[in-house]
Amino acid sequence: MITLKSPSELARMREAGRIVAVVLALLREKIAPGVTTEELNALAEETILKHGAVPSFKGYRGYPAALCVSVNEEVVHGIPGSRVINEGDLVSMDVGTIYKGFQGDAAITVAVGEVSPAARRLLEVTAGALEAGIAQCRAGQHMGDVSAAIQNYAESRGFSVVREYTGHGIGRKMHEDPQIPNFGEPGRGALLRPGMTFALEPMVTMGTWRTRVLDNGWTVVTLDGQLSAHFEHTIAVTDDEPEILTRL
Ligand code: MF3
Ligand code: CO
Repeated sequence: MITLKSPSELARMREAGRIVAVVLALLREKIAPGVTTEELNALAEETILKHGAVPSFKGYRGYPAALCVSVNEEVVHGIPGSRVINEGDLVSMDVGTIYKGFQGDAAITVAVGEVSPAARRLLEVTAGALEAGIAQCRAGQHMGDVSAAIQNYAESRGFSVVREYTGHGIGRKMHEDPQIPNFGEPGRGALLRPGMTFALEPMVTMGTWRTRVLDNGWTVVTLDGQLSAHFEHTIAVTDDEPEILTRL
């Protein structure tokens, strides 16, 4: 069942989302060659707690950190640690918060210093695919319109969308119904209504969309070792334009 949020619930999701956006803005400033992924995680956790929220990822199915940091061929769910960020890395940072019982979830991918033109294009196209999906999040549209918009945006520009991981409904729980694949058919799936809240999160690759999970049980990498990017926002369907809850 897809839950509808009341105005007071939406207000709490707005705050959860705002804190996520603040964290990602700080991470964007902090990331540089020489910084470790654990230092990024510490900044994320500290900032979340300082704002009166809780990191939703920490302890989720045993996940050990507040932040996911996924570098280059890592798609999602990279675990922070002693790894040092280098010039030329493509780094995805994904963070979630719980504020007064409601969740926010978002991710950005950033280029550290100079990266190849192809890597830069991958970033632009993944961010564009997310925007294309968000634009479909209007009352009267179907879930499949959102999925298809993301897929078409990425594939028509020569990239692939990851299929084993999806966007999701979000609210009191991080993962609520429905699952929102980054591929699909227009006109299919649930009808969107005001008060629905979703996390859309295209994961886009340069080569194959196939992935595998490393031995740590978490880190997802592309099967062919090529680059991947990931952007995510939590959004609300309204009577009018979609509201992006994780944008400052
Ligand atoms: N944004 C991701 C998701 O929606 C992050 C979850 S990471 C986990 O699934 F560690 F919490 F699992
Ligand atoms: Co998510």
